[in-house]
Amino acid sequence: MLTKKIGLLPGDGIGPEVTAEAVKVLNAVSKVTGVNFKFSEATIGADAIRKHNNPLPDSTLQMCAASDAVLFGAIGSPEFDNNPDAKIRPEQGLLKLRKELELFANIRPVKAYNSLAHLSPLKSEKIKNVNFIVVRELTGGIYFGDKNLSLDGQTATDTCTYSVNEIERIAHVAFAIAKSRKRKLTLVDKANVLETSRLWRKTIADISKSYPDILVETMYVDNAAMKIIQEPAAFDVVLTENMFGDILTDEASVISGSIGLMPSASIGKKIALYEPIHGAYPQAAGKQIANPVGAILSAAMMLETSFGMMVEAAIIEKAVSQSLNFGVCTPDINPDKNYSTSAVGNAIASLVNEEVIQTV
Ligand code: IPM
Ligand code: MN
Repeated sequence: MLTKKIGLLPGDGIGPEVTAEAVKVLNAVSKVTGVNFKFSEATIGADAIRKHNNPLPDSTLQMCAASDAVLFGAIGSPEFDNNPDAKIRPEQGLLKLRKELELFANIRPVKAYNSLAHLSPLKSEKIKNVNFIVVRELTGGIYFGDKNLSLDGQTATDTCTYSVNEIERIAHVAFAIAKSRKRKLTLVDKANVLETSRLWRKTIADISKSYPDILVETMYVDNAAMKIIQEPAAFDVVLTENMFGDILTDEASVISGSIGLMPSASIGKKIALYEPIHGAYPQAAGKQIANPVGAILSAAMMLETSFGMMVEAAIIEKAVSQSLNFGVCTPDINPDKNYSTSAVGNAIASLVNEEVIQTV
């Protein structure tokens, strides 16, 4: 029997709860497809700081390196957020993991569900046909440049650096995605101000010559922030650097009506990592109110991207849409008649089970 090794990093806050539901759905797929998923679990983030005084212990990194793909929950905790003097932070674990596994491309699909149009802060006619993908560079830029606080504590510096090589490798990922979609790529930058952005523009212009069938447009990030609200359906593939991508994907995530619905994939040289884009949501931890759909759809992205299991991934996506249509949702979606995190996971897992039996 084919076995795939999946590393689990449930992390902090609601991470463990939502990850458990994704595992449930993967087990439902496994039961009927004959693909065996072997799960290993390790600690990261605030949980790892508490246990090992290290947000990314070596043993966690080794577990990830020995896996075929990694499923990540969430990271972060108020005890560190509210302490500007904290030397060790949970987020450092995730950033180091991205760097160590060379997860340079973060793929964040943005999609609106018709059945949830009433939840969107945008008018329903605006969100019709919204379906785009943000390709965010993930291991460079201001996140990873030199940082400094002067000795007198009066001046701080964060450096933003990009090399042609870093831009090229993510550009190829974005062009390949654009090729499989509507063949339109929007490069988002701040080339009127930043030298790094001008290098991005030049590099993308050079690369675009080898993708003549893809329409490339450029847009300043401030304008893109507006356009995501005014005309989100106009985007297909958005390519951008690390920090702009971080901000724009949070903005875009509210279009669907709940950030709890959004999955992501971080791909690199070998192993890829899949994670819902929401954070640790500590106020909800342990209450079984967190939406597991982002984690479940991240598992679907894993099947598709890392394991080539397209049919099964599509079945999970369909089961998610069905459960939303049936109103089987956590309180972020339906505050009146809501289901627990695990009830939503159970419903999606059983829909997957029924469907897989019919299809595979
Ligand atoms: C994200 C998060 C991370 C980031 C944090 C937790 C470091 O916001 O994945 O978008 O800024 O990249
Ligand atoms: Mn973010």
